[in-house]
Amino acid sequence: SYNICSFFLSSSSPHPDRIQLPRNMIENTTNGKRFPWAKNRLPSNVVPLHYDLILQPNLTTTEFAGSVQITVNVIQVTWNIILHSSGLNITKATLTSAGWNQAKPVEVLEYPVHDQIAVVAPDALLVGQNYTLSIDYSSNLSDTYYGFYKVSYKDEHAEKRWLAATQFEPLAARSAFPCFDEPAFKATFLIKIKRDEQHSTLSNMPKNVTIPVAAGIVQDEFSMSLKMSTYLVAFIVANLKNISKETNRTLVSIYAMPQKLGQVEHALDTAVKLLEFYQKYFHIEYPLQKLDLVAIPDFQAGAMENWGLITFRETTLLYDDKTSSAMDKKLVTAVIAHELAHQWFGNLVTMEWWNDLWLNEGFATFMEYIAMERTFPELQTDEEFLKLRFKTMMKDSLNASRPISSAVQSSEQIEEMFDTVASLLLMLKKYIKHDSFQAGIENYLHNHSYGSTRSDDLWDSMNEVTILDILSLGFCMIECLCVLQITNGTLDVKKLMKTWILQKGFPLVTVKRKGKSLYVQQERFLRSVESENWTSDASYLWHIPLSYTTSNCSSFLCPYAYLLDQKSATIELQEEVKWVKFNVDMNGYYIVHYAEDDWNTLINLLRTDPIALSTKDRAHLINNIFSLVGLPTDVMKTVFTAGAKTDDGWEFLLSMYTSSVSEAEKHKMLEALASTEDVRKLIWLMQTSLEGDLIRAQELSHIIATVSQSLPGHLLAWDFVKENWEKLIRKFHLGSFAIQNIVTVSTFQFSTEAHLLEVKTFFESKSEKISQLRCVKEAIETIQLNIKWMERNLAALQQWL
Ligand code: BES
Ligand code: ZN
Repeated sequence: SYNICSFFLSSSSPHPDRIQLPRNMIENTTNGKRFPWAKNRLPSNVVPLHYDLILQPNLTTTEFAGSVQITVNVIQVTWNIILHSSGLNITKATLTSAGWNQAKPVEVLEYPVHDQIAVVAPDALLVGQNYTLSIDYSSNLSDTYYGFYKVSYKDEHAEKRWLAATQFEPLAARSAFPCFDEPAFKATFLIKIKRDEQHSTLSNMPKNVTIPVAAGIVQDEFSMSLKMSTYLVAFIVANLKNISKETNRTLVSIYAMPQKLGQVEHALDTAVKLLEFYQKYFHIEYPLQKLDLVAIPDFQAGAMENWGLITFRETTLLYDDKTSSAMDKKLVTAVIAHELAHQWFGNLVTMEWWNDLWLNEGFATFMEYIAMERTFPELQTDEEFLKLRFKTMMKDSLNASRPISSAVQSSEQIEEMFDTVASLLLMLKKYIKHDSFQAGIENYLHNHSYGSTRSDDLWDSMNEVTILDILSLGFCMIECLCVLQITNGTLDVKKLMKTWILQKGFPLVTVKRKGKSLYVQQERFLRSVESENWTSDASYLWHIPLSYTTSNCSSFLCPYAYLLDQKSATIELQEEVKWVKFNVDMNGYYIVHYAEDDWNTLINLLRTDPIALSTKDRAHLINNIFSLVGLPTDVMKTVFTAGAKTDDGWEFLLSMYTSSVSEAEKHKMLEALASTEDVRKLIWLMQTSLEGDLIRAQELSHIIATVSQSLPGHLLAWDFVKENWEKLIRKFHLGSFAIQNIVTVSTFQFSTEAHLLEVKTFFESKSEKISQLRCVKEAIETIQLNIKWMERNLAALQQWL
């Protein structure tokens, strides 16, 4: 995977929310005059409506000239227009208005600390009026991968060529043209590019006309765009080749270097199919007449969703039957699915500010899987999604995890959040059912097309449809209400989701079953408890959409749902069941722990009737139990014991035993090792412990105790004691706790006259002193009691059985 965010944060521009200036620096411009605006965010008194942009990049000198005309509307009377500009050499600025008879020159103040300029108007700018600001400027093409940048590549004749392209997200549009570079300032764009005759250009919109402007220079003019954010503007000057296909009045093209045109077919088919899928899924047509997907020969990010002109790394777009693997195919498909989802979620409806980027990216990541599952089921990407959840929850169970909605800290943390968000959306989708979820998204996109939103807007749009949906259920009203746990007739998606977005980590749900009652309880799950925060964890409370299946699951309500919005609750089953499994297909973002009996039942089920559970449920149980091996340690032994049943598992556990530094853990491992039914291994364990090197001798009584608990082991343990008696009493003197223990545990299972005789004779044969040991007497008495018990109960017992 590609680390988009290291790119995001290592960009030369600082993160917009995090700059703190020394007081005395505020408001000083490059020419020493007072800058009229001290904030990082632009004022909202003037808003852009339209940009006319002409660019002339020179790929040889790497300079570019630009000229922009911005039509703005005044919301509040002002003398200044504050906008963004970064590293641009402004040569001329004028302002015009319908009421003025000619353009007036204006002063431009620059404040590089905030990447801002202030245009000082000759008169007060009046509310409701439109003005057009014209700025001529020049700059250099960037030699990073950010802004309006140039890269070189070798063409089909191995000759070095230059290409200019853009990457504006998040804050680099301002380095290509003066603009209101915040996502909420949407406007229309009319872009013209002057170029050498031998090059060609691409931009968000289709090309309208090409006109000659000077010797060897022509100008390409693109259609006017729809209302869009600056970070989505894009243009490319290059010599790329393409193949195209039309679908539903949109021309889809894949562009690559001419010698790589043979590798673009997969991308074209995929993009067409996915474009069709999204239009149906969102019930909103893709609004542009063309969609270009371009493989840039040198590209920092994985891909970028510029509206109508998506840019990719070559490895995320090109696919070659001869050299690409199945995984490569999945990657290409996933990246296309992701960037196409952004054409709606991000481009049509845009986050108001970067603090909600997690929603944009999280949603695109989520849609990536939904779209692929529906469009390319053969790729089995639902399994990839399950893997993603395993990975994400692993990270989120660390103390270092942080809430999704918090100031971003490091690149990795932002990236992890996208995956968490995707996983949470899946949980929501499964809970409110797919149709409601889809209707909620559709509602959201319709409500906010060409606008900007905060994350609350999404949950509100969801709430609108979930309420409607519930009211229209009618016939199953009562059951559905109790299933969904709707209070006051509404299912509050917002309230539910906030508990997941604002708190860090995720919950551990403990299930205890008694008859028909399931007692469920939640707490924060942490993989290691060294934290000082552990005590404050009592305050964590999630609204958890629990899902569960049982051995009797057949009704239409199955899998069952229950919203756990308290610390604990009791769920009443309709009847007693053999087993119950929570978090169906691991669609929920929580981990489950059962009482030991229920774990054993599930483990047994896995062994005896594995297909009673879905593949995902099986994978989940295994993943779940391994995660638990780290907080509640009472399942650790169960896990080790299950693992030690195979030869490989036993060997592996032994190697873990020898390297473990935790005595508590070693103890459990040893018990698991000694619970094997393989006689040779049991003998080896007892002997090795008696020697005391690999396994210390202090563990021997414990090993013998475990060995003698099993059917094949109890005779073995006694034989071992008999054979090694001299060694044992040399090592642990007579009367020691170890000897007492060994005598007790190696004999307490015997219940026949023959064994009584054998034990008696053995100890008597040793010495008077030994046969008088209290532990020996106790052992003999225990065997006698066992014999009596058998005489009294065996017949009855056999009858019952
Ligand atoms: N919009 C992002 C790229 C981005 C995010 C650039 C934030 C700058 C700031 C794009 O949609 C994306 O997510 N790209 C990924 C690949 C994707 C398939 C996960 C990338 O570049 O790694
Ligand atoms: Zn993205």
